[in-house]
Amino acid sequence: MTDVTSVLVLAENRWLAPLQAIIREHLDDDPSHDFSHFCRVWNNAKLIAGSEAKPVDGDILICAVWLHDIVNLPKDHPEVHLASRYSGEKAVQLLAPLAFPPEKFEALKHAIAAHSYSAKITPQSYEAKIVQDADRLESVGAIAIARTFASCGTLRRALVDVADPLAEQRAPNNALYGVDLFLTRMPIVAAGMQTLTGQRVAAERFEFNRQFCAQIAKEVRGLTL
Ligand SMILES: [Fe+2]
Repeated sequence: MTDVTSVLVLAENRWLAPLQAIIREHLDDDPSHDFSHFCRVWNNAKLIAGSEAKPVDGDILICAVWLHDIVNLPKDHPEVHLASRYSGEKAVQLLAPLAFPPEKFEALKHAIAAHSYSAKITPQSYEAKIVQDADRLESVGAIAIARTFASCGTLRRALVDVADPLAEQRAPNNALYGVDLFLTRMPIVAAGMQTLTGQRVAAERFEFNRQFCAQIAKEVRGLTL
């Protein structure tokens, strides 16, 4: 076993069961942040940490991943840009009784707060970079398509602008159309990955989304001929 692999195994042995119990207790009915979201982000984090093979703090990484969305505000909530900071504070409250090392609380809060796109916090630590990339990989690829349109349903937004599906004659607006999210945020997310592994995986997934957008435009235009 490599050093990083054993760090991750130790972290899972220590923290996975209590973290999963916390998540199950706090889940709401948001399909984009169901239990599987946390499982996927943890898998992404393990993939990144394992591939990069740099020293990593397992306590901070696993707890930040599983608690990064513990405060989950709707995308149209006025305080959505503060949700990740609130998640960091809540994580400390939840982990203090579980004997999480108190000297790591600040680093944990940073790793959680910096994951959010809307918080606009630059990740400073290696763990924060992994958490941000691991979560942002949910914003590209097949899972991003599923999550985007699940959010459209929750927020009662249109899937696509039938008159201009790829926003060629207007400014893209993801508050109005699901597909517009692929035109606005996704290229920024794909280009802003912090780790080499995150960049490699995001590029592959982004290509899939490019093909999806081309196909949806083709189908929409066919229907409007
Ligand atoms: Fe997340």
